[in-house]
Parts: sequence; C-alpha cells; structure tokens
Amino acid sequence: MSAAEFRRCAHAAVDRLADWLAGLDARPVFASLTEAERAELMDAPLADEPRALDALIDDTFARVHAHPMGNGHPRFFGWVNPPPALPGVVADLLAAGMNPSVAGGDHAAVYVERACVRWLMELFGFPTAGSMGLLTSGGSMASLTGLAAARLSALRAVGHDVREQGLAGAPQLVVYASSEVHSCIRKSIELLGLGARALRVLPADGDLRLVPALVARAIAEDRAAGRVPCAIAASAGTVASGAVDPLDALVDLAARERVWLHVDGAYGGFGALDPAAAPLFRGLERADSIAVDPHKWLCVPAECGAVLVRDGALLRQTFSFVPAYLQTQPGRGFGGLPWYSEYGFQQTRGFRALKLWFVLQAAGRRGLSELIARHNQLARELAQRIRAQPELELLAEPALSIVCYRHIPAALRGDENALAAHNRTLMERMQAGGRAFVTNADLAGRFALRACILHPRTSAADLDALVAETLRIGREL
Ligand SMILES: Cc1ncc(COP(=O)(O)O)c(C=O)c1O
Repeated sequence: MSAAEFRRCAHAAVDRLADWLAGLDARPVFASLTEAERAELMDAPLADEPRALDALIDDTFARVHAHPMGNGHPRFFGWVNPPPALPGVVADLLAAGMNPSVAGGDHAAVYVERACVRWLMELFGFPTAGSMGLLTSGGSMASLTGLAAARLSALRAVGHDVREQGLAGAPQLVVYASSEVHSCIRKSIELLGLGARALRVLPADGDLRLVPALVARAIAEDRAAGRVPCAIAASAGTVASGAVDPLDALVDLAARERVWLHVDGAYGGFGALDPAAAPLFRGLERADSIAVDPHKWLCVPAECGAVLVRDGALLRQTFSFVPAYLQTQPGRGFGGLPWYSEYGFQQTRGFRALKLWFVLQAAGRRGLSELIARHNQLARELAQRIRAQPELELLAEPALSIVCYRHIPAALRGDENALAAHNRTLMERMQAGGRAFVTNADLAGRFALRACILHPRTSAADLDALVAETLRIGREL
C-alpha cells in the first residue's frame, strides 16, 4: 500500500468512525444479530484475491460496527466495560503505526511504558523505588503475574526453588480470599499449579468484605496442618458489588504473618482517586502487588491492564530467562534497561502504553479524579432512586460505582427462587430491548440486577431511564 493510499483510506476510516461514534447514543444500547448476519460473519470464506482497503472499511461499518457490544452507549451498565476514551483510540492507531515490540531495548516505547507505570504507582502512593510494574492484557493476567511472584516468594522461604523443581515435593500453599473474589484469582491459582483447593474462600461480612479475623484464624489452622500460607488476595472493588476489603487491616495481618498481600483492583482500584472514597483504600500503597485495569474505569481501549509489584527484584527472579539471542549490554547497541520480558511471561509485547500515556495526560490527575468521583456520586443517586421505589430493593449500599438491586412484585415477596427467575427474565428482556443494559450478580445467594457506571456521558437522565425501564419490564412480567 502506498503512503498516499494509506493517508486517504485512514482519513476516510477516521471520518466514518467519528460519525459512527456520534450516532451511538441514538441507537439501541444493544441489538442481537440475526441468524443470517451471524452466519455471514462466521462462515465467510477467505477469498483468493486481494480486496481493496476501501471495500474492507465499507464492510466493517456495514457488518461489524453495525452490531456493537453496546458499551459505547451511556445507558450500558453491564459488567465492567466502558466506552473507549477517544485520546486512547487515536493513540492506538499511532502505536500500531510504529508497531514496536516493547519486550525491551533502547527505544522510546519502553520509556513511555516506564513513565505510565510510575504514574500509576504515584496515583496509588505505591513506592516507585525498588518496585516494578508492567502493562498486561488485563486484570486477570496482572493477578496471575502478581501471584506468580507470591508463589516464588512463599516457596523460597521454605527452601523450595519452584522455578527449578516445579511443585513436586513442595508443601501445599494456601491463598486467602473472600467469597466475593474474582474468578481470575482461582484461575490463576489453578494455572500456577496450586490446585483450586489452595484457595481458601472465606465468608464475606455483611458489607461483602473479607474479614481479617477469619483470615488470621485460617492461617493459624493451615500452619498447624503443615500447609504454607502464600498470599491474601484482597479485592479493591469486587466485581459483584464494588466492595473494598479492609486493606489497612489486611496489610498489617499480612506483614505480621509474613504472607504476600495481593490486591485485585482491576475494577475498583482507581476508586482511590475519588477523595470521598479514598479512605476505603488506605493500605493499598503497602500491598506487595496490585492488579489494576486502565481498560476498565479509565476507559483506555482494551486491552490494558497493569501489575505493580513492590519487590521489583523478586518479580524479575520470577520470570527472567534470557536466551542468548536476546542478550544485550546496557548502553551498548540495542541494550537499555532490563527488558520487560524479564518481568512477565510475554516476549513480544505490544505498545499498550501509548494509549494509557494519552488517556492519563489528556485527563490529568484532576480529570481522572473528577471522572471517578462523578461516577461514584451517580451510583449513590441511583441507589437513592431505587430506595424511593417500593417495588425495587437495593441489595447493597454502593461503595463505588456499582449498584445492585432487584424488582420485587408483591406476589413474589419472600420467594427467593421466584424472585431470581423473575429478575433474570427482566434482565434478559432489558438487554434485548435496547433501552438500557444491566447484567447480574449473585449477592449472598440472591440474584441481583447489577448496574456498573463507567461511561463518562452517563447522566442523571440515564439513571431515570434505567429505573423506568426496570419498572416497566418488571410490571409487564
Ligand atoms: C474485580 C475484577 N478482577 C479481575 C477482573 C478480570 O480483569 P480482566 O477482564 O481485565 O482480565 C475483573 C473483570 O471484570 C474484575 O472486575
């Protein structure tokens, strides 16, 4: 493709994208594909002949952009999927145009990632000296990375070299978390070879938080039984309700017990930037590792997660293996700082940092803090609207920007199974209806409609629309 052709097509693509983005609010939040539309995409053959870029751009707007997930719409409250921050969209194009591998070396992309990671550390008051962090595909990979370091550390303390020996002959390790912990922690533990039984799932308290006294008791029991406590996996914003575990007390406990404290802040970590919520996050800065997801609350286009690890040398010892073909000398040839590929699993690494670099700077500390505070405020307002409706029940006081509630028709009151079935149908109808979009959560066995506020353009009117839509469908059912 010639430079002139690229320029023309890319300009046209950006124009089409800008129109598409501008039109999103007027469209249904979500609409399913027809059977034919699905098949047309899935079963399309790869042609022998090349196709022009113009045709491909036309095709994506006709068949791909025509069926979005819905997260661009201000009344999309599902899961933890925000719209893209537009500075990040521009950055993604610019990064792809460079296409470096940010495994390491003396080139700018490496230093941009260093800056971004340091900024993240500074936002959380996490130490920048001696620590290390890197961008990952998301929160799951960030937690896997942090827990891999925890595993190395716990086994080293008992004289077992997990990198050399694997887990054969190692004592059983244990990781502690509340019943609200994200599934990625269990998946990480399985992938690290500890087995799902290594996860001690402790009952959460009435506010859906991990209880330090229960962790302390479990640690004592495990030690008495010859097991080795490895890590506490705390949540800074659970995926179901946004609850923040008592980090300050947990970090003290972890220090006393010489156990690693990992914090999963994938959804809620950035909640610390809201001055009103900041006290909940006290202690975060003392964690051993933190997983955060700029592709969630900060709206950095997916994928962009990050892991921050207090002991940078230990992280390097967890992952470093440099084959001869990648060995460089600092200050000579391509050699620069120690490579990122020594601190994580990936070798070739994309230039994720540029979109984060754009988004953080485009907002500035003040802009970030205002965005988060506004969403938390909207969540309180939504909770207020729900409380004011006798047919609706608020199932958890929002700690951050997630609101869990349900519709309670008088005839079903007290019948948990019927309420769960009713609210599930309500949710599915709402999703298919296209006026608003919520997903669900299981809150101590109760089926909740769950609204997560992450869209910078969500307004009070959108909250009214969500409540009205819940009532409309609930009554219709
Ligand atoms: C609390 C929490 N942890 C971890 C994850 C997983 O993050 P990712 O989807 O980026 O891998 C999520 C995703 O929603 C989450 O909410």
